[in-house]
Amino acid sequence: MNVQTQPQVSDSARTGAPRGYMPGFGNDFETEALPDALPQGQNSPQKCNYGLYAEQLSGTPFTAPRGQNERTWCYRIRPSVRHQSRWVKTEVPGWKTAPHVVDDVISLGQYRWDPIPVPDEALTFVTGMRTMTTAGDVNTQVGMAAHVYLATASMEDDYFYSADSELLVVPQAGRLRFHTEMGVMDAEPQEIAILPRGMVFRVEVLEGPARGFVCENYGAKFDLPNRGPIGANCLANPRDFKAPVAAFEDREVPSRITIKWCGQFHVTEIGHSPLDVVAWHGNYAPCKYDLRTFSPVGAILFDHPDPSIFTVLTAPSGVEGTANIDFVLFRDRWNVAEHTFRPPWYHKNIMSELMGNIHGIYDAKPEGFVPGGISLHNMMLPHGPDGPAFERASNAKLAPSKLEDTISFMFETRFPQHLTRFAAEEAPLQDDYVECWDGLEKKFDGTPGLK
Ligand SMILES: [Fe+2]
Repeated sequence: MNVQTQPQVSDSARTGAPRGYMPGFGNDFETEALPDALPQGQNSPQKCNYGLYAEQLSGTPFTAPRGQNERTWCYRIRPSVRHQSRWVKTEVPGWKTAPHVVDDVISLGQYRWDPIPVPDEALTFVTGMRTMTTAGDVNTQVGMAAHVYLATASMEDDYFYSADSELLVVPQAGRLRFHTEMGVMDAEPQEIAILPRGMVFRVEVLEGPARGFVCENYGAKFDLPNRGPIGANCLANPRDFKAPVAAFEDREVPSRITIKWCGQFHVTEIGHSPLDVVAWHGNYAPCKYDLRTFSPVGAILFDHPDPSIFTVLTAPSGVEGTANIDFVLFRDRWNVAEHTFRPPWYHKNIMSELMGNIHGIYDAKPEGFVPGGISLHNMMLPHGPDGPAFERASNAKLAPSKLEDTISFMFETRFPQHLTRFAAEEAPLQDDYVECWDGLEKKFDGTPGLK
């Protein structure tokens, strides 16, 4: 375990820029924003320094196996029970939760969308959330939802947490700053941020309008995949994940916290900022990761491996090898395979694949799948390279070549993904997407030979 202490001095009113990050994935961190705010040698002293309250946030059941057990001890100005009054039901209309099957919407199909335009109106990271698909069931803590966020305004004295889910945020345009109970972190395109279930935060738009994708994980947390014979290095390396150092707000102003709980939203009004954790230690924390540090491994002689070779993070389902969600990255890399059709092959998959384009051109769909765009290839529905991509790859001179300036991702889940009404009727659906395979003509005529 990599344990770091990095004392920080926080301003008294509001957290500002990130004051630093601690490297490592799921490490047992410790950090304090004021000297000696963190108790040593025990979690729950009779009295804490500075008059702080000790409080535990449990991300796994108390009795989870040691290797999976996650919790963080927070030392805060007020305990969380003082960060709520009465909860009042509210609405976040664009944010849907599974089970959410819309009777007259057909999810069976191959779908693709143009980038969703960001409206002129003031939308925050929460109010600008637009759900594209849902899968599984939040009440049994399985499945996920795929969202696009459209953010033009910062959350000022508005705070949020999801009791339903862990949020994996994939910025595509604009820059965000996450002010969380555990500290502050920035995220921009080609980075991701992970916000744990139950952790309060607000989002500042540093550079807008901001747009990106969110994978809402109802199930067990994202973890690094096993590498098997690949060994101890490559793919996503633990040290490239960064957790924020402690930072707190001592801010006595009217504030609101919205909670997402079993798909419903409720709001509570309080008189101060809930981001009042002065020190913390533990392994349940937000983090960020730069996708450009992902070291891809692939075919170096012939054939095209399964896309699982590019898995950044996997959220297990309880069935070994059958993920609740895999987060998969298609980044710039060398293509060197000999006598091989190099793009992804044609296939049908028991898993459901939602892809997003962060930047550049994706090799299997050089046209139509543009930055900010989304595609969905649902459970057991065929897909693969479009006609021009097939012809080009089938006839290409197979010298080493580099896929450059490209970065796309996939949220792949074991569950079918159901479209929301927004995805089916409001988002810019490409009605002609399935025609991309029309050019794949019959070549077979019964005579042997390569055609
Ligand atoms: Fe696929």
